[in-house]
Amino acid sequence: MRERVRQLQAFDCIRFAQKANSNIHVLRILRAMDVLVDAVSLGEIERALRAGYVPGTAAHEIVFTADVIDDATLARVVELGIPVNCGSCDMLVQLGKVARGHPVWLRINPGFGHGHNRKTNTGGPSSKHGIWHEELEDALRLVDAHGLRLIGLHMHIGSGVDYTHLHRVCDSMLDAVRRLDRPIEAISAGGGLSVPYRSGEPEVDTGQYYAVWNEARLEVERIVGNKVRLEIEPGRFLMANAGLLIAEIRAVKKVADNHFVLLDAGFNDLARPVIYGSHHDICFLTPTGSAVTGPVRSVAVAGPLCEAGDVFTQHDGGYVAFRELPLPQVSDLAIVRDVGAYGATMSSNYNSRPLVPEIMLDDGRLTVIRKRQSIEQLLDLEAKGESF
Ligand code: LLP
Repeated sequence: MRERVRQLQAFDCIRFAQKANSNIHVLRILRAMDVLVDAVSLGEIERALRAGYVPGTAAHEIVFTADVIDDATLARVVELGIPVNCGSCDMLVQLGKVARGHPVWLRINPGFGHGHNRKTNTGGPSSKHGIWHEELEDALRLVDAHGLRLIGLHMHIGSGVDYTHLHRVCDSMLDAVRRLDRPIEAISAGGGLSVPYRSGEPEVDTGQYYAVWNEARLEVERIVGNKVRLEIEPGRFLMANAGLLIAEIRAVKKVADNHFVLLDAGFNDLARPVIYGSHHDICFLTPTGSAVTGPVRSVAVAGPLCEAGDVFTQHDGGYVAFRELPLPQVSDLAIVRDVGAYGATMSSNYNSRPLVPEIMLDDGRLTVIRKRQSIEQLLDLEAKGESF
């Protein structure tokens, strides 16, 4: 995590998209490194506060980014003076009605996008996200009509992007800035930076990435005539490679010519392979921590859920894939790599399985940073049926 933050230090502001990993202890470490934070729900705002982020300051430590806002969240951002990055014109109206002068960003859908999967592409005509680029003038009229204070423009075209779109996004940002009739204090490049999930996959050249955005920022400064802060909003980049899922092997089956290794963790614990067909490297260890060896077999690694798709080894398209791996035994461990982003935050209680504990390894120290959820806690929510 710390090394990843250092790689982006050239940006004026790194704003962590905490949806990737919103554990309060993770947020505390990032805050200590001057990383600011993005929140997309009331829960994420409260997490940021609990981690020590201070709202309503000139530094805008917390920003709320969404396409919709509910009444409870609206009241809280107004109370705390948290800037709102608006992804719809309706949000501008709802905010403007209760809080004239409130600071806002406009999130623009530039008309194209990209992602490691269609479901993580957040630009173009099939995306629900952001204000469509042709609607910018309408959004500005609403900003003025409600006396809102425009801080900046934001573009996030997707997650796990391939950078061939980089210049195009910068050009779209410049086009939008030229259509503004006012100064702004910041622009945001959004998130999206990719990380290697397979050994040998290249790392993004963050120096080059910054150079392109910085050039755009300088042009923005020429257009608006003042200094402009350049923000970046990574989630995956800071966290993905920092997390492992450790599970125990509970069964090893031969099925025709293949083998299924069944773990005590399922897609309720790690959803990415099932949702996107995402690849995560997996290796097996004995209970004492040495690598499982022996001849390789055709192996699928699967979970305990009552769903045929509960398989961690998937093809890109999202279906059971077999990998060449040595065969482990019951009680050995499976290590699923690179789950630090969108691992715990996307977990669920499906099949009434409690959330697993999270453990941080920092400087040789192990700390439980989220306790194991108990079955009582799960059932408590339903304990008393309340008539109304
Ligand atoms: N900013 C906004 C407005 C976003 O919606 C996102 C991610 C980010 C920043 C951070 O994107 P990142 O740097 O992590 O690519 N569950 C999917 C990823 C969904 C991303 C949602 N939005 C996955 O596991 O791949």
